[in-house]
Amino acid sequence: MDGALKENDLSHVVAADKAHVWHHLIQHKPFEQGDPRIIIEGKGMRVWDQKGKEHLDAVSGGVWTVNVGYGRESIAKAVYDQLIKLNYFAGSAGSIPGALFAEKLISKMPGMTRTYYTNSGSEANEKAFKMVRQIAHKRYGGKKHKILYRDRDYHGTTITALSAGGQQERNAQYGPYTPGFVSVPHCLEYRAGDQGAPVENYGEWAADQIEQVILREGPDTVGALCLEPVTAGGGVITPPQGYWDRVQEICKKYDILLHIDEVVCGVGRTGTWFGYQQYGVQPDMVTMAKGVASGYAAIACLVTTEEVFDMFKDDASDPMNYFRDISTFGGCTAGPAAAIENMRIIEDEGLLENTSAMGDYMLDSLGALMDKHSVIGQVRGKGLFLGAELVQDRDSRTPAEEKMVQAVVGDCMAQGVIIGATNRSLPGYNNTLCFSPALIATKDDIDQILYAVDGALKRVFG
Ligand SMILES: Cc1ncc(COP(=O)(O)O)c(C=O)c1O
Repeated sequence: MDGALKENDLSHVVAADKAHVWHHLIQHKPFEQGDPRIIIEGKGMRVWDQKGKEHLDAVSGGVWTVNVGYGRESIAKAVYDQLIKLNYFAGSAGSIPGALFAEKLISKMPGMTRTYYTNSGSEANEKAFKMVRQIAHKRYGGKKHKILYRDRDYHGTTITALSAGGQQERNAQYGPYTPGFVSVPHCLEYRAGDQGAPVENYGEWAADQIEQVILREGPDTVGALCLEPVTAGGGVITPPQGYWDRVQEICKKYDILLHIDEVVCGVGRTGTWFGYQQYGVQPDMVTMAKGVASGYAAIACLVTTEEVFDMFKDDASDPMNYFRDISTFGGCTAGPAAAIENMRIIEDEGLLENTSAMGDYMLDSLGALMDKHSVIGQVRGKGLFLGAELVQDRDSRTPAEEKMVQAVVGDCMAQGVIIGATNRSLPGYNNTLCFSPALIATKDDIDQILYAVDGALKRVFG
């Protein structure tokens, strides 16, 4: 169009998108008739599409990312200043924002000391898996190489990240997978009945199932356990009482590295800097991505303890004995520059406190909706990371049909409120509505989200 794009006339943009863009995670056949949604602008909690329609975004950019909200000029400025000073150099060298963000990040993570930069959550997890494999080779003759992951958890989209993926529908048709990844049962107490679990001490029982898998596989073959602190796309699963204590105990007992995937929870989402900090756990490796710079720049990190780090420098006489890995865009300086400012905003605006307070308010409000809508089987979550599991019947807990759940999402969208739902992930269990507004959410925003959900449930389920 050569600059001929008239203000407010986005018809060419829509046509170019329809002709040439392959959108993520969506079937394109409907776009032969209708148009894809194109998001043009964002400010605070709200975004506007190509038709000028305003939406209240209750999912922080669709996938738990824009934690400090849209339109933050100070982040844009920090990135601008950094880019004209130095945009990039490979990560074998350091950079000013890389060093300063690592220092700031580590100050929020007692017990952790080292930050490895990369550019997506999947890639950060891959780095952790590679470290586990290399440690197995260096220390255990290659034997202690298996990585345990949990049913319903998700760790990314690459083939090896999917090898650690506990969502069968996400994985379907993309195998064969990387060997050496072993599944352990999920810890969703609401579905304990489906697992044949006892009614009492479910948390300990669910963690004990991990031990059973370790014993079955042989503890000397298991190198790491990779878990989300609160499962995100698998249905917003908050861990049951007693679960994490027992998990930590099991990892110590069998000398298994605990890798916590904070790609969603990391940097404030649950009301603490990291989700694991809600449960008093001490991990060996932590991965994070989405909220690290709230989507203002691509950045992901793998953070480790000094003990893990030391395993890669203990014998410098061996030319193979270091982490022989690179991420080209892990050397982009925009990421840490944005991340420093993102963290400053969270601190200066008291967003962790706001997240806890608004999260409690939203959880209570969702709970109150249960009185009006028997289709809500359970509400759960931590901070501004919440879910409502929909069922056909509260006694049997038969999941609501995915198409009905999607109809609720569609109805909210029509009302100008963007919510999420588990989708095409878990066979038969894509029945949880997901809410993750930005950490700046106010009571008014939450009331507006709940008002839309209330109306949608009424229209879809009667
Ligand atoms: C828990 C978790 N881990 C990892 C990922 C993958 O992150 P990315 O899409 O940045 O590769 C996601 C993405 O949704 C996620 O939810």
